[in-house]
Amino acid sequence: MTEQEAKKKLESLREVLAQYNYEYHVLDKPSVPDAEYDQKMQELKQIEEQYPHLITPPDSPSQRVGGEPLEGFQKVTHRVPMLSLGNAFNEEDLKDFDRRVREGLDVNKVTYVCELKIDGLAISLRYENGFFVQGATRGDGTTGEDITNNLKTIRSIPLKIKDDNPIEVRRGEAYMPQKSFLALNEAREQMEEEPFANPRNAAAGSLRQLDPKIAAKRNLDIFLYAVGEWESGELSTHSERLTYLQQLGFKTNPEWRKCEGIEEVLEYVENWVEKRAELSYDIDGIVIKVDNLEAQEQLGFTAKSPRWAIAYKFPAEEAVTELTDIELSVGRTGVITPTAILEPVKVAGTTVQRASLHNEDLIKEKDIRIGGDTVVIKKAGDIIPEVVRVVMDKRIEEGKPFAMPTECPSCGNELVRLEEEVALRCINPNCPAQLKEGLIHFVSRLAMNIDGLGEKVVEQLFREKLIHTIADLYRLEKEELLQLERMGEKSVSNLLQAIEQSKENSLERLLFGLGIRYVGSKAAKTLAAHFETMENLQQASFEELTAVDEIGDKMADSIVRYFEDDKVQYLLTELKDLGLNLTYKGPKATDVGEDAVFAGKTIVLTGKLSIYTRQEVKQQIESLGGNVTGSVSKKTDIVIAGEDAGSKLDKANKLGIQVWDEEKLQTVLEGGEA
Ligand code: IVH
Repeated sequence: MTEQEAKKKLESLREVLAQYNYEYHVLDKPSVPDAEYDQKMQELKQIEEQYPHLITPPDSPSQRVGGEPLEGFQKVTHRVPMLSLGNAFNEEDLKDFDRRVREGLDVNKVTYVCELKIDGLAISLRYENGFFVQGATRGDGTTGEDITNNLKTIRSIPLKIKDDNPIEVRRGEAYMPQKSFLALNEAREQMEEEPFANPRNAAAGSLRQLDPKIAAKRNLDIFLYAVGEWESGELSTHSERLTYLQQLGFKTNPEWRKCEGIEEVLEYVENWVEKRAELSYDIDGIVIKVDNLEAQEQLGFTAKSPRWAIAYKFPAEEAVTELTDIELSVGRTGVITPTAILEPVKVAGTTVQRASLHNEDLIKEKDIRIGGDTVVIKKAGDIIPEVVRVVMDKRIEEGKPFAMPTECPSCGNELVRLEEEVALRCINPNCPAQLKEGLIHFVSRLAMNIDGLGEKVVEQLFREKLIHTIADLYRLEKEELLQLERMGEKSVSNLLQAIEQSKENSLERLLFGLGIRYVGSKAAKTLAAHFETMENLQQASFEELTAVDEIGDKMADSIVRYFEDDKVQYLLTELKDLGLNLTYKGPKATDVGEDAVFAGKTIVLTGKLSIYTRQEVKQQIESLGGNVTGSVSKKTDIVIAGEDAGSKLDKANKLGIQVWDEEKLQTVLEGGEA
């Protein structure tokens, strides 16, 4: 290929890739399978490698995660200050706002635009001659920080827009979708790192990283809602601007509405108080803006905020209840976790009976006592219940300050606090609670996925001393199982069959199931795909392990030490003798077969799932060739509807799209007919 040809080819590849990227990340409607995108990207990278001087940093899609980690962030002075909004907390505040606006404009009725108030971070994007050149945080409104490299990793931000005005500034809210947040915290817990309190903190923490590779892994997203300065076109209303932003290729939030007068605004607000639970991202209120731009200008600004807009803040989703007890559990790795047991109470649509108290420090800090304390409960980031504080006025005399035990509640061994850890740990390798938790983990869905062997049955088998180690599971006999309570012929034969079947699992399931410290399900898959057999992995050195993408020092060290242990070596020999498969059977992540159940299919999940978590369903569907997207359209093949499914289900029915319930999904995932 001549240089001239290479240049042309690169231009066309950049254009196609930008289009695919837009369809996937902005429209949420991919037109091609992921593999096609990957293949084109590969092609682009190969040509760029051959002609490095043809790499165009502002808009080459290969440069989204680019540059060395920074020493620190540069300051950016906003040409137009990034103001904040006045707040409204109830109907009266909103009516007052409307009255001020009407008086200011001397009219009877005003057209407003209502938008969701995304719970993230305000961001300013600067385009020069159509190219994205700088992205900044709000900071104090006047000066923010230059986080361009991190923002480039957000795929819904176009690197180039079809508008080559010298300068364009757009504003919006960067956020972390709930499922990314849950997956991130799960991975952090696996690595024994402190989880983020809510998606907002997680988004902020990610954008504050000096190394863009970290932000790139965090699956952030952004909704644009404003024009900062210098706009093109003759637009006269905010709603036209939103449409224009969308036409330029930006992601705008689809839920905005034009409302005639305050009554319609109140209806919109009311509606979202209920419906916010259905969203896949957190919102903390509604923003109301005067639609007409001339009217906005006429109203102007106070020192701090515009007079033409206001933020309605949802009341915090809190509830008051009684804390009846603090339960201590011993985790798989020996960590002792205290959990608050509560009088059941409804918070944000679900009933809460337990809330994690994390560790002793937190209990002390909040001065939580056992025996009659009344506590305030909320959901962190709309999802995980937590105790906010004790209602001191209602404290009764008998309450006792809580003290962590000095001995393991399961085995009685002395607990230790390892260096730099807040958690107390039982370090007895034979602690029954840890062994039992390890077995529960081993049979769980993302690990060996043994049907009919839930937590309860494992506990029963363990209690009856039929199993002590993983290997014992594969030595269970029909006769001994039949002796157990609630175990009939049928359930015993199903159970034995499921156990037998699990022997055939691909290596990554066993690897994850073993519970090697820091090795989560994703890392297990990476390791299995790379080393292919247990034997190879057992022999891998620290250097060979860290050479694998995604495997860090901490994990590599843990793996090496795990396999050095005599007991582990013995266990692996036993498992081999018992007939377990110790090789990787899975497809390479990129070449899922065309005959996979969901090959090439676009699937939307909606409503509350009860058998699986959304994360699990997504992983499974993707591993079977499918693509999970957020919104229902003509291109959707299947909608999986859980309980209380709402507008997405309605739309699916309207469009005549196949709808499955969770049971049907389960049948298919377990190998049944689609
Ligand atoms: S408009 C002149 N629209 O809420 C101020 N803000 O309380 C323009 N926010 O700083 C802001 N969603 O970080 C606007 N749809 C939306 C928003 C939104 C979230 C945030 C933004 C702003 C804060 C104001």
